[in-house]
This record gives sequence, structure tokens and C-alpha cells, in this order.
Amino acid sequence: MFTTALAQRENTQLGELPLDLFAAIQSLKKELNAVILAHYYQEPDIQDIADFIGDSLQLAKAAEKTNADAIVFAGVHFMAETAKILNPDKLVLLPDLDAGCSLADSCPPEAFTAFKAAHPNHLVVSYINCSADIKAMSDIICTSSNAVKIVEQIPKEQPIIFAPDRNLGRYVMEQTRRDLVLWQGSCVVHETFSEKKIVQLKIAYPEAEAIAHPECESSVLRHASFIGSTAALLKYCQNSPTKEFIVATEPGIIHQMQKLAPDKHFIPAPPMNNCACNECPFMRLNTLEKLYWAMKNRTPEITMSEDIRLAALRPMQRMLEMSL
Ligand code: 13P
Ligand code: SF4
Repeated sequence: MFTTALAQRENTQLGELPLDLFAAIQSLKKELNAVILAHYYQEPDIQDIADFIGDSLQLAKAAEKTNADAIVFAGVHFMAETAKILNPDKLVLLPDLDAGCSLADSCPPEAFTAFKAAHPNHLVVSYINCSADIKAMSDIICTSSNAVKIVEQIPKEQPIIFAPDRNLGRYVMEQTRRDLVLWQGSCVVHETFSEKKIVQLKIAYPEAEAIAHPECESSVLRHASFIGSTAALLKYCQNSPTKEFIVATEPGIIHQMQKLAPDKHFIPAPPMNNCACNECPFMRLNTLEKLYWAMKNRTPEITMSEDIRLAALRPMQRMLEMSL
């Protein structure tokens, strides 16, 4: 765990890094009375130093409950924003402010305003992977672990807009057997998996089970024997008697899978090309070094207007109430 952290690292832009980065981060944590929350897609060193690792819903709940004065969010911008929406008085730090999300970016507020206007009387259910502006325009937020459960609680006659992920939306439509008006956004990572290569892997590893995140396209989902959020995929691998899995989601999760089920074999689902594009380029902008600098300099900090925060808080609270 400490091998990379113990190596002396330098960041010429920001000054010299301490020799033991893990120890320095622990000491800054005490100084700031901070909690480090990390998503499963973060690099292994960050996962190892985090106080809490989780999927989007678990992280939102952890942010809601924390007594710390500062939240260091090792994830992407919309996740840190969610923590700020729930904790206006806390310092919320994101190691790299450029850690965005293709899905959140696919739904700009102006275009979404027009989309809503074109569908009057629709309730807006938005996936948490969206900006605070979009949350503020929504009625209920959901994550990949509670989207089906939330839509099922809405009366059948109520028309619904589901934004911004068309793949998760289509999956929810299938599971709930309802018609949803879908915003056509998607995740660059989950749309990169190759159906052909997954089929080839299934032939090469006949004992392996394919598991997938619902942000994947239906051509990939149809080969999966289990579909769920990152936390659900992790739990499934732990509890299943199967020993080999083809994992169609960001491979950062495999660090925890391997830790919790060391006797099992996890094969990352391959992307279309021979690239590393199954790794989220936004999540991977955060590094242990940037996490250290963020804590040391108390920046970059997440801020937002109180109007937007309050408007975004209401649908967040509805989600938390509906997913108890
Ligand atoms: P979950 O954390 O809900 O599994 O979503 C995965 C994801 O893409 C986060 O950006
Ligand atoms: Fe966004 Fe996809 Fe990266 Fe998640 S994995 S942060 S949805 S781009």
C-alpha cells in the first residue's frame, strides 16, 4: 500500500513534496479535521488512504452524515458539488478542479431548460451525474443504485423526463416497464466497451460471468448476468460462488474487488480500441500528490450560489428520503 507513497515525489509547479506522502496526508487530515471520501474509480493509492470508499449514493450519504469540518472529495466535480449542496458550512476540496464528467457535460442548463419546456407536466428525475444547475431544475435525483426504486415510487400516470444518461434511462425503462422521456447523454467510459471483445472473452473464459454497470450500452448489458452500481457489482462478486468475472465498468473498482475477494480473478472488459479509454480520464486526474496539495493549500474549493444550492438540495433530499 505504501510503496508508491513512500517514493519521493516532486511537483515542480507547487514545490517539494514530503518524503512520506501518506503520513503527510494523515497529519493534514488531523489539522483540518477532514474526512477523505473516495469513489471506487480513483487510483489505488487514493482508495487506500481514504476514510470512506463508495459509489455515488454511498458517498452522498457519507457526506450527509460526516461531522468533519472539511471534506476532501476524491472523485469528480459533480460529486464534490453534491457534498457541498449537503454541507454549505464545510470546506469541500476537490484535488483537481478539471475532474469533470462527460455525462454531466452532455446536459448544459440552457438546452435542458428548453427540453423541459418542450415536455410540460413531466416530473424530472435526474441522475446524480449532472451539474448543480441541472439538479436545481430537477424534482428528484437518483443514482445508479436507486434509479429503478425511485421511478417505481412515482405514480404510473405521471410522465417523467429522465436525464442525462440515456443508457441508464433505457435500463430503468426496461426494469420498470414504463416509458420515460430520455435526455440523450452518455458516459465516455461506459460507451467504450466492445461487445465483440466481451463475447470473445466469454469464449476464452467459459467459467467467467460478465457483470456490467447500467451506464453501458444495451449491446453490452445483454451479455451481463448481473447489472448494478459499482457498490452492487462489488457485493455481487464477493457473494457469488463464481471465481472469474469480466467486469464492464471503470477498472478502478477491481482494486477493491481483488482486496475483498483475493481468491477470484477479475478481467477488465476491453474497450473498442487498444487504448486505456476504459479508465475515466476525469477521475484519473486526481492523484495522491494533488490530494496532498489541496489539503495543504485548502484549495481548489467547491463553491456555489446559495440560490442554486437550495434549489439543488430539495431533489437531493427527496432522493435520500426515497432510498432509505
Ligand atoms: P456509481 O457510483 O453510482 O456506480 O456510478 C458510477 C459512475 O460513473 C460515477 O461517475
Ligand atoms: Fe462521468 Fe463516466 Fe467518468 Fe463516471 S465514469 S465520472 S459517468 S465520465
